[in-house]
Amino acid sequence: MNKRRGMARIKSPVELEELRQEILSKRDPNKPCIAICSGTGCHAYGSEKVNAALEKEVKKQGLKAEVDIRRTGCHGFCERGTLVVIYPEEICYVNVQPEDAAEVVRSAKENKVIDRLLYVDPTTGEKVIHESEIPFYKYQNRIVFGNNRRIDPRSIDDYIALGSYSALSKALSQMTPEEVMEEVKRSGLRGRGGGGFPAGWKWQTTRDAPGEPKYVIVNCDEGDPGAYMDRSLMEGNPHSVLEGLTIGAYVIGSHEGFIYVRQEYPLAVENVTTAINQAGEYGFLGENILGSGFDFRVKVHRGAGAFISGESSALMTALEGRVGEPRPKYIHTAVSGVWEKPSVLNNVETWANVPLIINNGAEWFASIGTEGSKGTKIFSLVGKVNNTGLVEVPMGITLRDIIYNIGGGIPKGKKFKAVQTGGPSGGIIPEQYLDTLVDFDELTKLGSMMGSGGMIVMDEETCVVDVARYFVDFLCDESCGKCTPCREGLERMRQVLDDIVQGKGKKEDVELLEELSRVMSKASLCALGATAPNPVLTTLRYFKDEYRAHIEEHRCPAFVCKELVSYYIDPSKCQACLICLRNCPAEAISGGKNQIHVVDQSMCTKCGTCFDMCPPRFGAVRRISGEPVPPPPPEEERVIVRDK
Ligand SMILES: Cc1cc2nc3c(=O)[nH]c(=O)nc-3n(C[C@H](O)[C@H](O)[C@H](O)COP(=O)(O)O)c2cc1C
Ligand code: FES
Repeated sequence: MNKRRGMARIKSPVELEELRQEILSKRDPNKPCIAICSGTGCHAYGSEKVNAALEKEVKKQGLKAEVDIRRTGCHGFCERGTLVVIYPEEICYVNVQPEDAAEVVRSAKENKVIDRLLYVDPTTGEKVIHESEIPFYKYQNRIVFGNNRRIDPRSIDDYIALGSYSALSKALSQMTPEEVMEEVKRSGLRGRGGGGFPAGWKWQTTRDAPGEPKYVIVNCDEGDPGAYMDRSLMEGNPHSVLEGLTIGAYVIGSHEGFIYVRQEYPLAVENVTTAINQAGEYGFLGENILGSGFDFRVKVHRGAGAFISGESSALMTALEGRVGEPRPKYIHTAVSGVWEKPSVLNNVETWANVPLIINNGAEWFASIGTEGSKGTKIFSLVGKVNNTGLVEVPMGITLRDIIYNIGGGIPKGKKFKAVQTGGPSGGIIPEQYLDTLVDFDELTKLGSMMGSGGMIVMDEETCVVDVARYFVDFLCDESCGKCTPCREGLERMRQVLDDIVQGKGKKEDVELLEELSRVMSKASLCALGATAPNPVLTTLRYFKDEYRAHIEEHRCPAFVCKELVSYYIDPSKCQACLICLRNCPAEAISGGKNQIHVVDQSMCTKCGTCFDMCPPRFGAVRRISGEPVPPPPPEEERVIVRDK
């Protein structure tokens, strides 16, 4: 960490390069380094204990001078945590436990591979040694997220060693604010927080807007269920966000910035606070940054964890210390934002792209992606997919490539049904669009959106009506209630969908849902209400038959909606093995050793345990929907006579 010459402020690009050389001169690139993921996902798997065990082992084996240990941010493949990568060979170990520490340290020193800790490719059954060869990583292009695994986020020296803060240095010493802005415009960078607004043009609006002071803000609210891209970037590489933010501040002439991060992200708060302090000590923040005469300060603002607070005007109201509610945007926040001053708000990932663009040039950035969507996007790939985690892919990759090549397909040989992109206000995309190119415009054409990068995969056992109800339920709870169309519209939608999944739906409900959607999207105060109908509209568009089945036949084709599903035991197949009876948590099954079992429908909670537990060779428990349960045999006919 910061042990350099009394942490004097760096006053010029030359001094920055000298510092980088000084840091590099003290590091041996061939020295084994054990990089252990300490992101929140691996933390939950016990990475702290693995780290402690590794440190103890290094000491015990007397290898302090020969083996380094680095605690890094999230590597992406969180599902296989705790992840450990041994540099310089980039040997990747998965599911590492504290008891593996001695072997890991020894093998790092001796440059050997521990076979049993390697990732096994489920399709080929082969073990994969190097991280870049694991299919989950192989098809990614981790230009933004890739450094997470190379640095300790609490060490600014790690960040500088990679050549970072050089974009800030270049911008301040070699480029005018206009030139930086033009570079960002030419790169085609669009906001990664949802709307996809071109970043450079937003900066131009704020730069040109009258009023002082001007503010720059990082949106790290990230309220989408299942999404954690921004958290992982903020936890794992906070300096990249700070560097981008400072460059943006230079462009628009801002001297004060905010990082809005939700309180539920304690590690992100901690790491970005450390980063701000270190950047200040080195002279990347504060007065006269890198001797350029430019001053800029940053504060962390902890949000109270409401989905609506991620919306631009609500976030700014919260920053002012008031209740985070949106306001009408006749005037954009870029012109009249925090304290009615011109304010640029960008997403974490948007800011983290800026140093890359300045260092590598607009052409390089624009060479990645599609005509209208440049660069890469980080997605949180979750749901019914074999490999879950964070994936960074070039814009223009297909949904199929993400789900099958990176995600490894659907678990247990089940069939793919749909993928939800864009968070709760996104849409549900069916199988026939799996070859759609993933970019801002193509997803919007399908009625969904890129959003901030949530991607939830669903298999054949998912009921899309229930999924639409889930998201409407979430948005209904998260609506601030300030405007009527959103507040009342969502509540009414929830009631209608609740009725449908309970088999109480009416034919005219579909029309009502469509009408509510129309009003909400036109008349809501902010994008929460305006986009809230997307899950309903896309499921109606692509899965109308399922709505009909629920309403007209009282049938849930996926056997998910409990009120429409029943379980009974086929008397001709029951072997009275007692398994379902013993495992039924509701004690709804009666029977005996030689007696056909019967499910008491009045006690059954439809948990499906009996169905799952019945041995496949018997297949006696039947799951039905949309048809009546056959009556059980009379008591006297339930005895099973077994052959001697
Ligand atoms: C209800 C709602 C929640 C939002 N939450 C977030 C969020 O958590 N993070 C984010 O970056 N943008 C969020 N947005 C989008 C922001 O309003 C804004 O467009 C974005 O932060 C701008 O940054 P960008 O141009 O870099 O995408 C949300 C929008 C709405 C309507
Ligand atoms: S938290 Fe370790 S890989 Fe994501």
